[in-house]
Amino acid sequence: MSVNVTVRKFDAVIVGAGGAGLRAAIQLSEAGLKTAVLTKVFPTRSHTVAAQGGVAASLGNSEEDHWHWHMYDTVKGSDWLGDQDAIEFMCRKANECVIELEHYGMPFDRTDNGRIYQRPFGGHMSNFGEKPVRRSCAAADRTGHAMLHAMYQRNIKVNTQFFIEWMALDLIRDAEGEVLGVIAMEMETGEIHAFHSKATILATGGSGRIYYSSTNAFINTGDGVGMAARAGIPLEDMEFWQFHPTGVAGAGVLITEGVRGEGGILRNAQGERFMERYAPNAKDLASRDVVSRAMVTEINEGRGCGPNKDYVLLDITHLPPETIMKRLPGIHEIAVQFAGVDALKDPIPVVPTCHYQMGGIPTNFKGQVVVPGRRTMNEEVPGLYAAGECACASVHGANRLGTNSLLDLLVFGKSAGETAVDELKKSPKPHKELPAGAFDKTLARLDRLNTQKNGTSVHETRLTMQRTMQKHAGVFRFNDLMKEGVQKILEVQKDVQQTEIKDKSKVFNTARIEALELDNLIEVAVATMVSAEARKESRGAHVRDDAPDTPEHPNGRDDTNWLKHSLWFKEGNRLEYKSVTLRPLTVDTIALKTRAY
Ligand code: FUM
Repeated sequence: MSVNVTVRKFDAVIVGAGGAGLRAAIQLSEAGLKTAVLTKVFPTRSHTVAAQGGVAASLGNSEEDHWHWHMYDTVKGSDWLGDQDAIEFMCRKANECVIELEHYGMPFDRTDNGRIYQRPFGGHMSNFGEKPVRRSCAAADRTGHAMLHAMYQRNIKVNTQFFIEWMALDLIRDAEGEVLGVIAMEMETGEIHAFHSKATILATGGSGRIYYSSTNAFINTGDGVGMAARAGIPLEDMEFWQFHPTGVAGAGVLITEGVRGEGGILRNAQGERFMERYAPNAKDLASRDVVSRAMVTEINEGRGCGPNKDYVLLDITHLPPETIMKRLPGIHEIAVQFAGVDALKDPIPVVPTCHYQMGGIPTNFKGQVVVPGRRTMNEEVPGLYAAGECACASVHGANRLGTNSLLDLLVFGKSAGETAVDELKKSPKPHKELPAGAFDKTLARLDRLNTQKNGTSVHETRLTMQRTMQKHAGVFRFNDLMKEGVQKILEVQKDVQQTEIKDKSKVFNTARIEALELDNLIEVAVATMVSAEARKESRGAHVRDDAPDTPEHPNGRDDTNWLKHSLWFKEGNRLEYKSVTLRPLTVDTIALKTRAY
């Protein structure tokens, strides 16, 4: 197939204009480097816009707080699978990153004395797990929205070049393993371009669209994760998916945990505040995996609400209306629009909904992508960085705490940008030559799509994938179902290799874009299913029926055999494992213990 590929040169190319991409871009452009950001949607419409409740930082504006307490909570929240060096790095950097954002013009809510307003959030406690603490820095219930606007404006100031409505397709990697940029499609024209760069940062966000019910936007199709997998980079800890307790029943739209931070209560059909039984100390503010499992247990045991007893209720009717309208105006609106409920008067029907991938492209805390090599399990891939939800730093381990996602994208977006600047300034060099045939595989993929006859439907194949993931890798996991799920998802993978699009036109062909997105989603889905089936313990968000709570293995966790990260390789559909970093940077290890709230 003869396709004309236009080559453009930049110092750095960033894929994704959500929080992580925008933060990394600020760092690179401020350093005077020629930086391109590719994004499928206008930057302020990236999925970070949907983050509601806040960004974690131990500012201590309303009560005493400390980064070390935050670190403890994050390690505990991760069920000890998080790397403690990266977690210390993130929690220590939090205040600096939030204040920076304030200086970019982020319109945080304020306390009476003018400081950034902070609210409690699940799993964030004072004094090493004592009681909930106000750590989430919030702009009403639209924190992600405000954050994107502040950082987009800053990028305009520092001359970042945006390529809006461009979809990155594949990484360009040479025989030495160095990454030399990306191949991308301009969605408006369908033309193919290569972005030849010295540093490439993947910041493509989550892949929650592998599930049928998800709080994720339709754009969250795991593009960076798929690109990395196809380029031979393993995917880390993909079995760990967070189900947010409060998605609107039937719609999946997020109702922020900030609602419970402001005093909202979960109730079952009997009106009971059931979280008191599952988490006597933290109650509704226990960590998300704990709350989601409690909700599903209530539903499974017949205490769900509604005609089908298939949801529980989030009650804020006892809160002063002025608090709701000041602190949670967006939630009031979402409840009306998506649940038909005036939350001032009636509780909101909610169910756990897929929200966040804890795993992703393996990185160190400097944002460099790392892979097993000859000397260590964490050798840097030259020229490649990743940050935000598509990356696995790994600070969330087996379960993320709410508001640590906005923090993750700020800290590691900045850190990836900083590292790239250091590398590029330390040893200035011309662009390395592109290898012969650099675009061949991508062009063959596009060609297959243009010539496929009697193929499968993108829509139906995606739906089968989503239903398979929902049933076989959900909140609770069952050995037999997971085994069956692996077989089913491998069948779906075959269908993905034969998708057919009827419309072959080039100009803004959304059918082609959806087919290319499905190529990425399936990598994520296979990695998830295979890694989940293989992990024979319960930990954090991965809870299986055959690894129950026993005196020998409290909560089903098996540190002797499973205190390790999974690495899934596309080639050969195989798994390797690497150890968890238990040693922090400066403080003592947070010692392993049983997780209870
Ligand atoms: O509940 C929320 O507002 C979501 C926050 C998060 O996922 O960190």
